[in-house]
Amino acid sequence: MQQVISYVDSNKDRYLSELKEFLAIPSVSSQKNHDADVRRCAQWVADQMKTVGMQNTQVFETPGHPIVYSDWRGAPGKPTILFYGHYDVQPVDPVNLWTSPPFEATIRGENLYARGSADDKGQVFIHLKAIEAYMKNHGSLPINLKMIIEGEEEVGSENLEDFVKQHKDLLKADLVLISDSSMFAKGVPSVCYGLRGIAYMEVEVSGPNRDLHSGSFGGSVHNPIQALSEIIASLHDKNGKVTVQGFYRDVRPLSKAERAAYKKLPWNDKKYAKDLGVAQLYGEKGFTTLERLWARPTLECNGIWGGYIEEGAKTVLPSKGFAKISMRIVPDQDSQKVARLFEKHLQKIAPKTVDVKVRALHGGEPAITPIESPGVQAAVAALEKGFGKKPLYQREGGSIPIVVQFKKILGLDTVLLGFGLPDENAHAPDEHINLDNFFGGIRTSVHFYEELPHHWKNGGRKRK
Ligand code: BES
Ligand code: ZN
Repeated sequence: MQQVISYVDSNKDRYLSELKEFLAIPSVSSQKNHDADVRRCAQWVADQMKTVGMQNTQVFETPGHPIVYSDWRGAPGKPTILFYGHYDVQPVDPVNLWTSPPFEATIRGENLYARGSADDKGQVFIHLKAIEAYMKNHGSLPINLKMIIEGEEEVGSENLEDFVKQHKDLLKADLVLISDSSMFAKGVPSVCYGLRGIAYMEVEVSGPNRDLHSGSFGGSVHNPIQALSEIIASLHDKNGKVTVQGFYRDVRPLSKAERAAYKKLPWNDKKYAKDLGVAQLYGEKGFTTLERLWARPTLECNGIWGGYIEEGAKTVLPSKGFAKISMRIVPDQDSQKVARLFEKHLQKIAPKTVDVKVRALHGGEPAITPIESPGVQAAVAALEKGFGKKPLYQREGGSIPIVVQFKKILGLDTVLLGFGLPDENAHAPDEHINLDNFFGGIRTSVHFYEELPHHWKNGGRKRK
């Protein structure tokens, strides 16, 4: 093991320059003009897989962006990990708020700044380099490994589900491993055992059949932006509860034990508020911040537009107003059910003065991994060795929709071994990854591969 760790140490500079290459490819999955970059990025991942010693590398075409697969099956009798990650990234705008260009990875202080550095290229790369280090020193891995790295996670993983269904044999494994989340805090390693799901909606409110002069017509019709704002404002009550009818019906109540466990975590509301630059926190009454973030459903307006938003003034009474609204959901809510409740509720509260159309954009289900599973216990042991501290258990508020599909289609539980930090600006300007975590992540991943067979022996289900 020491050999592997010193190999990592003596290759730090090369690792960083290769990571910079990966981060230089603008693989923004949601923007058509980047389609060729996304494809180039898939090829880059495939080439890396070959370089680090993975076998049977294939770039699978989908109706959308490619999925990269490879495996290494040289450890008969040992457990098989199915590693999942994504090489696509979120858009970079507003680009003027970046301190250095988003696709020119730059080290400042103890961080590396670039789009995708934490979410998720940096974390995928952690594993590629852990594999390389292990292979170079042992000529083999202590486990069997299959990897799928997709290019559509940031747009809802639309084609991945079909891919998994069509390749059940190829993807046969004992557990799923994902590094696409965060640790609790700097110096506080954690294993994540829960994710929220999501139901993402778009709302279109139409008023008059054309844009109108706000002087000649103002006072005669309901301005659709006003109507939309009234609708949005009514979606929370004075206690911060979501008012969509039936919204909380399927929410699994927090257990006493879980509430007690959250209370023990090193958390400080004041510090959190200060860091975010808000005078006071806001949310559903009766729950702590961590409970609201991890185990309670929410509704957020992600964007609102319509009318005139360019330079100067224009006295227009717009014909339409739009909003994007997403709901984070928790066990045992269902994204399609929640989407239907939302649509029904909006139709019910829509004033007669406007027409309201609701469209579902994408959805994903919430996930919980049993913490007593051998995979999670191997992660606990690996984190302790990799970061020198016993990890905490936590949930996360974000979503990785494929986790539940892995369970449904392949019958596999997922281990969420995240090396990001909650304040690394994922999806925002100045996204970064902490370099200690990056290298700690490589060490931990190597330990995880080594730990897993021991834990599996003691508690793994029988291999299929
Ligand atoms: N890496 C995140 C998921 C995540 C975020 C996990 C924070 C844990 C903590 C992932 O890339 C992501 O952003 N997913 C989207 C999914 C959506 C587009 C379906 C999300 O959560 O918004
Ligand atoms: Zn991600």
